[in-house]
Amino acid sequence: MTVWSLHAPRSARLVDKIVIQGGVALEGTVVASGAKNAALPLLFACLLTDKPCRLRRVPDVADIRTTRNLLQTLGATIEEVGPHELIIDCSQVVEAEAPYELVRKMRASFLALGPLVARFGRGRVSKPGGCAIGTRPIDMHLAGFERLGAKINETHGYIEAVSKRLQGGHFIMEMPSVGATENVMLAAVLAEGRTRIENAAREPEVVDLAAALSKMGANIQGAGSSIIEIEGVDSLGGYDHEVIPDRIEAGTYLIGAAITRGQVRVEGARAHDLSMLLECLEAAGATVETQADSVTVGSTARARAVDIVTAPHPGFPTDLQAQWMALMTLADGRARVAERIFENRFMHVPELARMGAHIVSSGGEAVITGCEQLSGAPVMATDLRASVSLVLAGLAASGYTEVLRVYHLDRGYERIEEKLGALGARVARVPV
Ligand code: EPZ
Repeated sequence: MTVWSLHAPRSARLVDKIVIQGGVALEGTVVASGAKNAALPLLFACLLTDKPCRLRRVPDVADIRTTRNLLQTLGATIEEVGPHELIIDCSQVVEAEAPYELVRKMRASFLALGPLVARFGRGRVSKPGGCAIGTRPIDMHLAGFERLGAKINETHGYIEAVSKRLQGGHFIMEMPSVGATENVMLAAVLAEGRTRIENAAREPEVVDLAAALSKMGANIQGAGSSIIEIEGVDSLGGYDHEVIPDRIEAGTYLIGAAITRGQVRVEGARAHDLSMLLECLEAAGATVETQADSVTVGSTARARAVDIVTAPHPGFPTDLQAQWMALMTLADGRARVAERIFENRFMHVPELARMGAHIVSSGGEAVITGCEQLSGAPVMATDLRASVSLVLAGLAASGYTEVLRVYHLDRGYERIEEKLGALGARVARVPV
């Protein structure tokens, strides 16, 4: 029985592993799922209204299931009305506390606070812990709420934000935090008066949130630029919205084409969201072809070494850093990777080294000296994007690779073994 005929039931167990027999070039088309990091704030935005919201192209990943559980805990009802389509009704949510046991599983749960205090005058959310990639503080979120007149209390591991009616304010962010931009937007749309956010995050997921909030009746200008202006309104309606495609998932498969020297077309990918990655792939010698609703990357030779420095959008995405590093482990030459967003996002380095990669890292800098061949090995996933970089390395390596603790992958990649299998990869999810 070949290993790739084994499939655990879809309800992925915590200890499943992904087994890969490397050396196969990925060939074919894969459809991008909805963006996890857009769907999460879009789901929390439903807390702002007592009208139903319809959300389409919702990815079926663990973080979305966690968010649905949290919203239902707060009193929302959520109905699956089609594949990847939900109707969310928060009319029964009266006041709310986001409990530790759910918030600790997913830092993005903190995005509940902005809409709760905006709609109910009070929100209480467990402080998100740090996570594998860093301490992940929330100081900018809290500074933003205080600019809007909220009183912040921190007790027993919970953050409470209270305000009879939030007031529009002027908020200059120390750095363009995606979450803080989204949380302040989610609060300011129901504040009294005008809010101006400077040094706002410009990510496509922020733009998608603003588009949905506008459909609800919010008055938002400038999303996608570093200055967002919001004129608060007294109440909001529902939305009917389709989540943008996941640029990080798409970028992952496109790097997969380059590392295996194949050709992959990602249907639904938006080239504009991926411009920095596509430039780097072309510099590394891959061919890039963009259409209105797809991007194709192909390669027939060893990648050239190309340096990257992660930066806020439109710079090189930190969420693709680990995947790029996997490609550079097989490049012809020496590449530098600088991680400037998170303080501990190199946990894939020792695992890639187990597969034969030559990487020297110190602090947020790594130098990768490309080698001719990686060799498959059992490796340990540690966080979402580090995990998928090990899968990419396993696809290119000789022999078998086993990626353990697959639950990290399941947080953000929908049906990854099926999508890779459809591209010709010899991969299977195996219960441990
Ligand atoms: C979002 O996280 C994404 N998550 C992350 O994706 C992504 O890596 C990150 O943005 C950067 O693009 C979601 O959208 C759910 P930040 P977020 O606030 O909002 C520091 C993935 O793999 N900071 O832009 O938490 C922070 O510690 C995940 O899908 C503060 O210091 O990121 C980090 O160093 C991982 N104080 C930097 O800013 C704050 O109040 C960027 O964080 C907030 C953030």
